[in-house]
Order: sequence, then C-alpha cells, then structure tokens
Amino acid sequence: MLSELQKARIQYQPVIPAVLQTSVDFEQEPVAQAVVPPPPFPTISTFKALRAVAKATTVARPLRVGVVFSGGQAAGGHNVICGLFDALPIGSVLYGFLNGPAGIVKQKSVELTKEMLHDFRNQGGFDLIGSGRTKIETTSQFEAALKSVQDLKLDGLVIIGGDDSNTNAAYLAEFFLQRGVKCSVIGVPKTIDGDLQGKGIEISFGFDTACKIYSEAIGNTARDAISAKKYYYFIKLMGRSASHIALECALKVHPNLTLIGEEILAEQQTLPQVVKSICDLVCERAAAGKDYGVILIPEGVIEFLIDIKELIAELNTLLLDKNSDFQKLEMGLSIASKACFQLIPESIQRQLTMDRDPHGNVQVSKIETERLLMALVESELEKRKQKGEGGYAGTFSAQPIFCGYEGRCGLPSNFDANYCYSLGRLAAMLIEHGKTGYIATLSGLTQPVTQWRAGAVPLAALMHQEMRAGVEKYVIKKALVDLKGKPFLHFANERAKWRLEDAYTQPGPIQFFGPAELTDSVPCSLRCE
Ligand code: FBP
Repeated sequence: MLSELQKARIQYQPVIPAVLQTSVDFEQEPVAQAVVPPPPFPTISTFKALRAVAKATTVARPLRVGVVFSGGQAAGGHNVICGLFDALPIGSVLYGFLNGPAGIVKQKSVELTKEMLHDFRNQGGFDLIGSGRTKIETTSQFEAALKSVQDLKLDGLVIIGGDDSNTNAAYLAEFFLQRGVKCSVIGVPKTIDGDLQGKGIEISFGFDTACKIYSEAIGNTARDAISAKKYYYFIKLMGRSASHIALECALKVHPNLTLIGEEILAEQQTLPQVVKSICDLVCERAAAGKDYGVILIPEGVIEFLIDIKELIAELNTLLLDKNSDFQKLEMGLSIASKACFQLIPESIQRQLTMDRDPHGNVQVSKIETERLLMALVESELEKRKQKGEGGYAGTFSAQPIFCGYEGRCGLPSNFDANYCYSLGRLAAMLIEHGKTGYIATLSGLTQPVTQWRAGAVPLAALMHQEMRAGVEKYVIKKALVDLKGKPFLHFANERAKWRLEDAYTQPGPIQFFGPAELTDSVPCSLRCE
C-alpha cells in the first residue's frame, strides 16, 4: 500500500544534467591520475578517468544488463534502477539480481519491467530486488558469477554499493576481462556513510537523505532538551568508521558536543580521556545553570579510541580461532587491553566480541557506545562530586538515542532522487560504450542539476592494501573525515560557541514541495567545499 505522499512522489520527474539528456561520448580526462597498478588488477589499473561529452542522439543496439544492490540500504537505490532502465536502448532487457551479490552467485534474478518499476520511482528502500553483504572472493564464486552473466548473455552488470561492494566490482571486472568475457562491470557509489568519496566521487548517494532524517530527529530532541531542561541526550549516529554523518548533522543542528573519530585518533585519545572531555562539558554547563544538552557520537568512534582500537585489533586476532569462548578471549589479551576491557560493562564487552561482517568489519551499529559513554560519564561525575572537584554540584540524567536504520530507507530527498536517477542513466551509457572496471561519477553537485558534470573513475585507482580478517587485501580505501578539509575546519571554528549557548537549529522534515531553498538543498559538507 502506498501512502498519499508516496503516490505524489511517484509523479516527481527527476532533473537530469544537460550532458546526459542526449547521447554521450566518453573522453579521457586531460589530467589522468597516475595509478600505481595494484597487482590483482593488471588490466583495469591501466584505465584512465573519463568524462562524458554530449553528442547528438544516436540509435544504439539493445543491451542485456544485470543490476544488483550490495550492502546496507541507502535512499535513492530504486531511482538508480529506474534511471538505468529508462536510459537503456529500446529492446534492451534489465535483470535484477535478488538479495545482493548472493543472487549473482546463485543465479537468482528477475526480469524488471516498466510496470514493476512504477511504484518504486522516487521511493526509499531496496525492496524491489533486496540486498545482501555476500563477498565474492572464492574461485567457485567467481566462476558462478561468470556463469550467471554468460547464461543471461549480459553486456553489462551494474553494482550499486559502497567501498566493499565496489571492491567486488573491481575484482569481477578484472576476472571477466582475463576470461575474455565482454560484460562491462560498472559501480555506482552508494552508502549513507559518505566514506566512498574522493578522486572524483564527491559524495555517495543516500548520505543526504540519511543526514536530513537524523538532523530532523536531533533538532527535535534538542528542542526537547531546552524545554524540559533535565536530560543529556547521548545520540549515537550510524556511519560505520568515518564520522561524516556526525559532522554533517553537527553542521546542521549545532549540538553542544560532537565527537569526531578521526580527530580523536589524530590526538591519540583514550576512552578515559574522551569521558573526561564529556564530563568537562557537563561541569561547564552545570556552572552556567544548564543540566541538559545534546552530544553526538559517531558509531565508529569506538574504533578510533587508541586503547579500544588496540583491544579490537587483539580481539580480531583472537576471534580467528573459532573455538575461543568469551573467557578465553579475555585471557588472551595483553595487560593494557585487559585493563581497558575491564573498564567496559559486560554487555558491551560481549558486543565487542560479536562476529565481524563478511568483509571483516566490526559491526559497530551493534555496539552501544552511547550507553558505554553515559555509564562512564555518570560514574566519573559522581567521583568529581564526592571529591568536590571543580565545584560540580549539578544533576546528571542521560538518555540514549540511536539514529541508525531509520535513516537508510526514507523517501529520497530531491538531491538523492536526481543524483541516483542520473547515476543510473550514466551507468547505462558507460555500458553502451563497453566501459568496464569503472565507477560512475557526477560532479559539480552544488550547482543546479542541469550543470552537473558526468564521468567515471577507474575502480583500481581507489584501491589500497588493508588488513582484513588477518590477511593483507586490496580493497577500496574508506574516505575518512579530512581534518584539514573545509567541512571539518568550519565545524572546528564554530563548535566553541555551541558548547554553552543553546544554538540548536531545528531543520524539520525533508521537504518535497515548496521553494527550492527548502526542497533542493545539498549537504552542508558539500557546500563548505
Ligand atoms: P554500507 O557501507 O554497506 O552502505 O552500510 C552502511 C551501514 O548502514 C553502516 O552505517 C552500518 O554500520 C552498517 O551498514 C550496518 O550494517 P547492517 O545493516 O549489516 O547491520
């Protein structure tokens, strides 16, 4: 069943960059990046970045294309598929692989038709075909993927995913080329985390909508804080390792304190030091008569605290032994890590030892960092009170909030609806030109949509070596918050004001109707750049 707003959104016509309105040619970017060829990619690492230039509309041959969602949901995914479908030459066939990369390996797909797509235009979620986190890495998985594209006679495969999924795309592109199979593999940058960016990718889709949804909730919560004047809200934000989401929400709402994992790492801060800095804020505000406030905590911060980072690294090694139980794990830790482990409440100790995801990542969304910090801050404040330290005489009452899964499947903002539809269209054009091993890119995103530039970056140019599940692997490097970048510097300039003043803004819900300033805003982090 569709709500009235969903029905209205189906009617929205995404705006398309001028360059993608007719046919295109792809030219090599004049300043092609020097790529140090990563060994697993002898062919695709020789490719250069591309830019699209418009040409008169030509009639192209029909294509057979497969598409897959990979990894966590992000608003706008359905529009990538709609843009792809609408841009394919007449007579083409589009298959959706079901439930993520597993659908490619298990040869589970469905032919997508205009009628099937109708109710998914400008809608959130990935439910048209589902998603999943299967990593394609074994020889038999590669062979199964090859069989899939050969059985369906695909000219192209579009992988809509984040860093790990586009890593999959690069390996598949190289494998198909090595086997002489002419199936283009094109990635589309998806993830609410915003950590698939740089080298020509300005932002991943879904980031804008997720941050708008979270900022609405944070702004409303801040309004509650200044109304009731009795709670500290410890708000954990999704975003895996990088703190882009927390930074963007801070720029939008102006909370009293925002932890930025990358800064904590640069300053080599430990868990007790971060607890101390939160307590200092609480004491300063109490001295100003304010026993309430709003604190943003990126979920990935836990991995950036140097003592916990070391603890996680040790746990990762110990967890490789599938027979080790909870007690054995603790016994295997170094003295320093054991001391750190013992600081942590048992429920959170157990969360730290949970299984890693199929790509070897700690599942930070399942770790209740907000509750951990609340508990440690409360006990530290109690000690300060008893010792009469700093004259703290306030009352501390905290509420945990997790802004997480609800941000991934919202109705896409106009920005994400336009961006995704155009990315899908661009992916179709790259396949039509037989390009492979690329990720589709649109740039100039703070300009009106019609002026956006279109191009593609070789996936191999995004690779670096990283330790995953105890082994060095080539994977796409996650883009963390750049502490010298304009968004962070802008935040760093403003944040002192936000500590004591209640300078909160209330962004309200995503707007789909009304003046363009309300409906077409782009992420603050992009505007700062
Ligand atoms: P992707 O990198 O696949 O886009 O995932 C994003 C994300 O929402 C992270 O922010 C979060 O840590 C993780 O997925 C949660 O994963 P899961 O859905 O498996 O619980």
